[in-house]
Amino acid sequence: MTLTLDTLRERVGDCTRCPLAETRTHVVFGEGSPTASVVFIGEGPGEVEDETGRPFVGPAGQKLDEVLGAVQLTRDMVYITNVVKCRPPGNRVPSKDEMSACFPYLEAQIALINPGLIVSLGNTPTQWLLPDVDGITKIRGSFLPWRGSMRVFPMFHPSYLLRNPQRTKGSPKYLAWQDIQRVREWIDANPRA
Ligand code: URA
Repeated sequence: MTLTLDTLRERVGDCTRCPLAETRTHVVFGEGSPTASVVFIGEGPGEVEDETGRPFVGPAGQKLDEVLGAVQLTRDMVYITNVVKCRPPGNRVPSKDEMSACFPYLEAQIALINPGLIVSLGNTPTQWLLPDVDGITKIRGSFLPWRGSMRVFPMFHPSYLLRNPQRTKGSPKYLAWQDIQRVREWIDANPRA
């Protein structure tokens, strides 16, 4: 059987590779364009995502839609997933063991989509992909080389923007709006064949 995102999703099935399987309702695999040039990676499903099986559909997802919309991007133009596919209880940060257990799925998704750019949302996905980098406040908005020709572009997590709604110069929201414009410019400069 040829591996595609759909067949990978079937293989993930009702995964029991880590203890998150015991408390989750749905595996949240990811969604969007299988030929997207940009993949957005969050931390892990929250409550609404766990209920629906879809990534970023709760309050953080609405904020992400708003950020994308600011540069005329829609969810179907990109691919959206998380470092872990199952909700950590109480929305805690996933453990290293949980992220390790789930990483083959993310790696396979990235290999199948083969994006040029990965937008990592917040510290958790950023430091998972690039363990030696500084915190998100320092490195957001930079294009960091990853596995050869790919780039990781860290941005603030939408939940952080929800907690910091002010939009004054230099605020998280102001910086996120600048960053998403860089993503848009990157997409325009790197159209998929
Ligand atoms: N937060 C995340 O990191 N991912 C989601 O899918 C939802 C909220």
